[in-house]
Amino acid sequence: MSKSQNIYDNQTFFEGYKKLRGNPYSANNVEEKPALFSLSPELAGKSVLDLGCGYGENCAEFKALGASVVVGVDISEKMLAVAMEEHPDIKFIRADMSNLSFIKDNYDVVFSSLALHYMEDFDAFIKSVYEVLTPGGYFIFSQEHPLTTAPIAGASWAKDENGNVLHYKLTDYSRCGKRSTTWIVDGVEKYHRTFSKIINALCSAGFTIETMLEPTPTQEIIELDKSWEKDFHKPNFLLMKVRK
Ligand SMILES: C[S@@+](CC[C@H](N)C(=O)[O-])C[C@H]1O[C@@H](n2cnc3c(N)ncnc32)[C@H](O)[C@@H]1O
Repeated sequence: MSKSQNIYDNQTFFEGYKKLRGNPYSANNVEEKPALFSLSPELAGKSVLDLGCGYGENCAEFKALGASVVVGVDISEKMLAVAMEEHPDIKFIRADMSNLSFIKDNYDVVFSSLALHYMEDFDAFIKSVYEVLTPGGYFIFSQEHPLTTAPIAGASWAKDENGNVLHYKLTDYSRCGKRSTTWIVDGVEKYHRTFSKIINALCSAGFTIETMLEPTPTQEIIELDKSWEKDFHKPNFLLMKVRK
């Protein structure tokens, strides 16, 4: 089907990911989703494309916010099987988003939540998103933070003798490229890019950058669990809202 990795169809990965996402205090639920939806323009009557839609839960939310057309795209058969069962009223397409030539319509808003770090050719991908947007349309995305994707040996923290986090061990930031990581299973392929690579790709495609977010946990969440404080040393996510 494509050269992109499809790790979400690996049964062990799929089950492990399901467990993670079932946690109401996952970083996705606590930090990423509130930030993503805070960037959304008014969706009433708009057409929305969601790239790397997973279970389709964001698609359902876009529809609830009044979008007239919502289409979700994902490479994983297993993720889409859940999406189709839970949201039978939404159109889902199984495809590799690294090549958007199968998209024949234009969309007012393109969202992509936590899938861009799987894209190998970021410049080409960003150009193709620009092509599918209507003039003035928005591209809103989240991805793993570049400080998270940087270390070739995987993210790790310096701790004191009592196990308290001192600081994040940042390495390899300027070494862009593939990262083969262990996340639920071994051999999960992601791509690290610096801020300048990301911003230059968006600008050379023709986008105007409107907002960047690097969400941190609320005081309420920190009071529930002090370990969230480490996200003030290094955010988990980068989100951007850009306009055609
Ligand atoms: C971390 S999940 C996020 C799912 C959803 N966007 C959310 O936030 O709940 C990443 C999703 O991106 C999909 N994905 C990864 N690479 C892809 C590709 N090349 N084309 C389409 N989907 C891809 C995966 O199958 C997975 O469903």
